[in-house]
Amino acid sequence: MNQPTTKENADMSAQLDKAQKSIDRLFATRNDRWYPQCHIASKAGWINDPNGLSYYKGRYHAYFQLNPYGSEWGNMHWGHVSSADLVTWRREPLAMAPTLEVEKDGVFSGSAVVGDDGRLTIYYTGHRWRNGVNDDDGNLQEQCMAVSSDGIHFEKKGVVIPCPDDKILHFRDPKVWKIGGLWYMVFGVSTPAQRGEIWMYTSNDMEHWTFDRVIYRHPDPEVFMLECPDMFPLEDKWVICYSAMGLKPHGFEARNHNNAGYVIGSWQPGGDFHQETEFHLWDDGHNFYAPQTFQAPDGRRLVFGWMSPFTEPIPMQEDGWCGQFTVPREVTLAGDHLRCLPIREFSNLDQDQQDFGPIELEVNGSRDLVDDAQTADINMEIDLNKSQAERIGLEIHRTQSGDHTLVCYDDQLGRVVLDRHCNTYGDRGYRTAPVDKSSGKLKLRIIVDRGSVEVVVNDGLEIMSSYSFPAEGPRGIRLIAESGEGKALISSLSIAKLGTIWEEPDR
Ligand code: FRU
Repeated sequence: MNQPTTKENADMSAQLDKAQKSIDRLFATRNDRWYPQCHIASKAGWINDPNGLSYYKGRYHAYFQLNPYGSEWGNMHWGHVSSADLVTWRREPLAMAPTLEVEKDGVFSGSAVVGDDGRLTIYYTGHRWRNGVNDDDGNLQEQCMAVSSDGIHFEKKGVVIPCPDDKILHFRDPKVWKIGGLWYMVFGVSTPAQRGEIWMYTSNDMEHWTFDRVIYRHPDPEVFMLECPDMFPLEDKWVICYSAMGLKPHGFEARNHNNAGYVIGSWQPGGDFHQETEFHLWDDGHNFYAPQTFQAPDGRRLVFGWMSPFTEPIPMQEDGWCGQFTVPREVTLAGDHLRCLPIREFSNLDQDQQDFGPIELEVNGSRDLVDDAQTADINMEIDLNKSQAERIGLEIHRTQSGDHTLVCYDDQLGRVVLDRHCNTYGDRGYRTAPVDKSSGKLKLRIIVDRGSVEVVVNDGLEIMSSYSFPAEGPRGIRLIAESGEGKALISSLSIAKLGTIWEEPDR
């Protein structure tokens, strides 16, 4: 391997120690009002992308981009949690700190595979600012490798794919898999002409990589970078997904600062990718980005997304932490779409389920269901044929101030709406998801945590993830029906509390 690229500036264990001390300091004053109970988050500090999702030596591993020194983005390290069952998680020691010259300004995102020698092998991006200070002159990024025999302690191997052209300003986020005897890697590139592309490399030995082809180029010239690409098989198809920078909003779509989505098509090793569907967003909420998938040992394709707080104000930053994952989701094919459903094991966290049975609400009626829900797993079915109200749904995180987040079916739009306009804290605004009304029923599952809401529409045909920061006091849940010709018919409704995901709660 290229010698200068392994030049060490610092000792990893000393750097990790220093970073852990900073996390502990931030944790001492962490405010828990919105800190998640049933979503992965760092004990303190900022997190972004899920990294290195894998199953190794009997445990699931989820690493993540972490700033241990504050609740803003910066100083990228890799944090780490692990689990035996994908439900209960354990905090692990921080996995990687920047120590090499080539990663002076951060160990950026990447993926993990169990290598030919049985070690957990991580491919990630070593990042430096070209001007040494910030991204005004772009980045100098190279794909790096590290190995571990326990998933906890990593030995860095340095650069495996250097950046081939100094006019390339983004070159990052390797995702690796193996077919037959060959290893494949894809990562995102912003070309010298600033087009967003995904490049594919191959390797026989995991260390020496050869350029194979540009496997995907974004058709929109405004899209200048495809972050965190992923490529995986589902049945007889292949999915390419990416997090697009530069995509403009159109109608209900792509309304977030950056947006993550996918296309489905076919691919044979050694060939081109043939796209067969339109681009679809992974998630229709305000906060979803940089998802990564991996295959569980039972064959399921699972995805974790980062609930990206791109838009200011970001009130959790005042609380000593920032950012959480979505709940783990299983991904399956549903025609030209992906179905994303919280993994079935997630229901193991349900406690004290209350069944409200069928409910008929008069027009402009409301009913308080729960007085104070820190967390909730809500299942409800609306009879669309027998309901005439214009909007039917739930006010979540409803406090005495009137603050709430509305999750409802809107008959004018024919869509599910997640609306935060009554929130004191955080970014407001609404997002919507399309609804297939052919069955005459709408199924909603709503996962409520202390600072977030995830809405699963019709068994995962659509899904929405948004932060929702409740105001002070108890957090009620209220059923509402608004306007229209007549009543709302809810054919079933149940609400459970959700237990904590942490093996050892922080406090
Ligand atoms: C996506 C991203 C990646 C990069 C990482 C840095 O959110 O920008 O492209 O590797 O975050 O933290």
